[in-house]
Amino acid sequence: MKNVAIFASGSGSNAKEIIHFFDDHAHIKISLIVTNKRDAGVLNIAKDASIPFTIITEDDIYHTESLIVKLKERNIDLIVLAGFLWLMPMNILNAFPDKILNIHPSILPKYGGKGMYGHHVHKAVKANHEKETGITIHIVNEKYDEGNIIFQKKCRINDDMSSEDIANSVLKLEHKYYSRKIEEYLNNIKA
Ligand code: GAR
Repeated sequence: MKNVAIFASGSGSNAKEIIHFFDDHAHIKISLIVTNKRDAGVLNIAKDASIPFTIITEDDIYHTESLIVKLKERNIDLIVLAGFLWLMPMNILNAFPDKILNIHPSILPKYGGKGMYGHHVHKAVKANHEKETGITIHIVNEKYDEGNIIFQKKCRINDDMSSEDIANSVLKLEHKYYSRKIEEYLNNIKA
């Protein structure tokens, strides 16, 4: 069994999709949910699905080994970021080399980097009258949104769409592809 930890601090809609996708999966299990927000939507989802969860502080991730210990205790093979905005520190990157994935709601390198997340991305896309946007799934490194890209999918947009409409179109792509790409990635990496 390969064990996955989902880090999520937003509404948790991607986490929910991923949890449902891997429910009863033959060899992949969502074994831990990590958030830095006490009111994160993902906490209710974790409770409903009986998945262990932990609410972390900056100390846990940046100043101690406490999060790494928790991840290793659960034999985590892959970390999946789904609306988790804190930069990954070097000790976690070194403990999980090429084993951290992120989803970003634009076609990187456009609309990436610090401060470019969630609705900020879609507002900027709208302001620039882009004709297309989409999703990027990439390996996480020490810089925001700069790790190797493993998958991108575009969607057409137009000036009649609000930034909320754009966000909804992009979120649909995220829900459709993230779980499948996680599965493919895990099937291809060595233990
Ligand atoms: C998703 O759109 C994800 O791409 C974005 O946060 C949202 C979380 O939604 N992540 C970033 O912007 C990372 N830079 P969710 O909580 O409903 O899954």
